[in-house]
Amino acid sequence: MTSRNPYIDEPDIRPPTRAYTVSFVDEQGQRHDVRVEPERIPFGDHGLPGSLLDIALGNGIEIDHACGGVCACSTCHVIVKEGIESCNSPGEAEEDMLDAAYGVTHQSRLACQCVPDGTRDVVVVIPGWNRNLAREGHGS
Ligand code: FES
Repeated sequence: MTSRNPYIDEPDIRPPTRAYTVSFVDEQGQRHDVRVEPERIPFGDHGLPGSLLDIALGNGIEIDHACGGVCACSTCHVIVKEGIESCNSPGEAEEDMLDAAYGVTHQSRLACQCVPDGTRDVVVVIPGWNRNLAREGHGS
């Protein structure tokens, strides 16, 4: 699976140049902090390198990603509660996908397309419909 869709424009990505933290929070309030070291990017091969999906999957946190992270579905929909100003702007294809997504807010992003630049820490809520938060340390 490739990490980008060749039929869409590349969003305006500014890769991080310093370490920062992404906190993934589920609807029960369970929080998983991930320290993102720029030299570890990409963590895997799903979503844009350094995207919230790339970071999550590479650190044992599950976010649904039916299309494999190429901006062709909306199953990776997350809410960026803090730090959205440090992320790339959504491209036209992402906005089109979000238009059809459930429960969209003005802080909604597709995790596979949203790449923070590392200038501040980011807090991401994984909605209940995308609730398989952590494969690790998730007691039930
Ligand atoms: S995984 Fe399909 S759009 Fe992100």
